[in-house]
Amino acid sequence: KQVALGIDIGGTNTKFGLVNHRGEILTKGSLPTDQYSTPEAFVDALYQQIQPMIDKYSEGGIEGIGVGAPNANYYRGTIELAPNLPWKGVINFADLMKAKFESPCKMTNDANAAALGEMMYGAARGMKDFIMITLGTGVGSGIVSGGHLIYGHDGFAGELGHTIVKPGGRKHWSTGSEGSLEAYASATGIAITAKKMRAEFPDSMLNQFPEDAINSKTVHECALKEDPVAIEVFRYTGQKLGEALANFVMFSSPEAILLFGGVIKAGDFILKPAKLHMERNLLPIFRNKVRLVFSELDEADAAILGASALVWEK
Ligand code: BGC
Ligand code: NA
Repeated sequence: KQVALGIDIGGTNTKFGLVNHRGEILTKGSLPTDQYSTPEAFVDALYQQIQPMIDKYSEGGIEGIGVGAPNANYYRGTIELAPNLPWKGVINFADLMKAKFESPCKMTNDANAAALGEMMYGAARGMKDFIMITLGTGVGSGIVSGGHLIYGHDGFAGELGHTIVKPGGRKHWSTGSEGSLEAYASATGIAITAKKMRAEFPDSMLNQFPEDAINSKTVHECALKEDPVAIEVFRYTGQKLGEALANFVMFSSPEAILLFGGVIKAGDFILKPAKLHMERNLLPIFRNKVRLVFSELDEADAAILGASALVWEK
């Protein structure tokens, strides 16, 4: 066999691939997560797409399944009370997969999976202490310390997207917390910031778009055309991110912070203010020591590879 199925469930899209022992992706595909109203329907759709791939690429079937998902619990194989998924409550996702594919299934948080992927095959090779931050529909993190992902007592360690960067600040659309990093630095948060700022500045290019077309991509287009409001949207986002990163650095003393996800396409518009505000808020003993890097692997691949790596774990 020697082939594992790696699945990365995201708030918007789900990506999957068959991966061999050397970390080569034999084939991959994707599904829109938000089109399935129940986890059962979603697992059925996965099966419809993936089983023919297994038949084609791996004669003896698969060794196992590794899944990275928001609010996944490593110990229990569950997805629990996810703020950015269409399914509510506690879902025994690993059990659903096991029953459908007749194969063992392990789960971890999606950002943890991305961290594992980068550690095994990408920008974090050889690193023992680093933090992965994923900036997508939500903000996720994987904290690697002493060469191991931190899972903590209940298996949910590393939910850094929900740490507070502005006490009493913007209310999270789903959790109700006030001023979380995710409320500002996720794609969702950036769209909220952009909508607020464009309303204050009628001359901004951002006003040329309909409401539902305001996202980090269109803000990026406007920033590239030097729209000062679009640039300010990213600067502010970068500031909030940088302030949060300073806290994270002081918490675990990483060698590097890896940034990952759709939002980093905005590049220096976010990275420069993030770096500035991280350094500015660090205790002097930490200054100018921590590298801020973009992940090396293709965005889709890192989490698929990381998830599949769960299968080879003892
Ligand atoms: C969830 C995390 C997840 C992140 C990115 C957050 O809202 O709480 O578990 O890693 O989104 O998907
Ligand atoms: Na995590």
